[in-house]
Amino acid sequence: MNAHSKVPANGKPIHVEDQNETTKMAHETTLLDPRFYTTDFDKLDKTDVSSVRAEWDVLIEQMKSDPNKGHFKRTEAWDDIDLESLPEGLRKELVDFLVSSLTAEFSGCVLYKEMKRRGSNPDIKELFSYMSRDEARHAGFINDSLKDFGIGVNLGFLTKAKKYTYFRPKFIFYATYLSEKIGYARYITIFRHFEKHPEKRFHPIFKWFQEWCNDEFSHGEAFSLLMRSDPKLLSGHNKLWIKFFLCAVYATMFVRDHARPEFHKAMGIGIEDYDMRVFRITNEITKQCFPLLLDIENPKFLKRLQRMNRLAIAMGKADNQGGIMGRIKKVGIGAAVAANFAGLYFMPTIKNEIPETSRLVPTW
Ligand SMILES: [Fe+2]
Ligand SMILES: [Fe+2]
Repeated sequence: MNAHSKVPANGKPIHVEDQNETTKMAHETTLLDPRFYTTDFDKLDKTDVSSVRAEWDVLIEQMKSDPNKGHFKRTEAWDDIDLESLPEGLRKELVDFLVSSLTAEFSGCVLYKEMKRRGSNPDIKELFSYMSRDEARHAGFINDSLKDFGIGVNLGFLTKAKKYTYFRPKFIFYATYLSEKIGYARYITIFRHFEKHPEKRFHPIFKWFQEWCNDEFSHGEAFSLLMRSDPKLLSGHNKLWIKFFLCAVYATMFVRDHARPEFHKAMGIGIEDYDMRVFRITNEITKQCFPLLLDIENPKFLKRLQRMNRLAIAMGKADNQGGIMGRIKKVGIGAAVAANFAGLYFMPTIKNEIPETSRLVPTW
């Protein structure tokens, strides 16, 4: 058995080699790919939300009412697309976008389902049952659009075979809060862009993004409440962790988006412009709980991200080159990435002294 195969409970080996290309893409876990997470479920189960009870109950009531129950179904709006007519480069990057989004959605689904399954705390169980319900819908809807290309991802295989990254509960809170809110900001920015430029909408899935992003917004609200229920998670040395996650999440998004030039060209949107719009929305939202914000309007911020992107491209080239020279180059580039990330991390941040409270309805 090789390093890429595992033996599931039924004893039959599962091989990544036997899977289709999109499943292999989703199975990969590099620095930039969406990950699957696991955590200390017992510790997470001990979360006590009594200090934010009033807001919690309103949010849970909203999730229970399941406002998007009927949304993730195809309508005739899906029929006005000819996938075969998409140029090769765009088709490839669209698939990459869909697989990456699917992996992120399904990662949430797997983690939330496990929290619900392992928990005994009724608040935690209820919240994670609603959130895993939503993420399963989102992942399934994206996978249906991949099946249109004949390249659906084997989600059962992924659950068993993808590498899981362990994060302590507080790191899950920081990372998942940001991923939900940035997910909201990305989906709403794309939706609004196509509202203004419907002639550029090259795939029907973008028509579903408005209601979709409201689910992500609510999920983010839940993590905001989980963090605010324990104020020490948002103060003291934890501020350094929050800053780390902000830098890592923003830089990763910037580099990943730049790997899809045809996709953004077809949308009629500049990648930097789009990413900056997403950062501005995310920064505004995170004022609700984070004690600091990245100074994204400081020109050095964009310069650091641009450098990160150039280094990522150089790293890709060194990887393809292989051999001793390739490896030596990779070490040098790796050191430059670390130094550049440190430069980003040590930029002065903006203090957010008075955290706002939750908002049930997005206003961005
Ligand atoms: Fe989602
Ligand atoms: Fe979500």
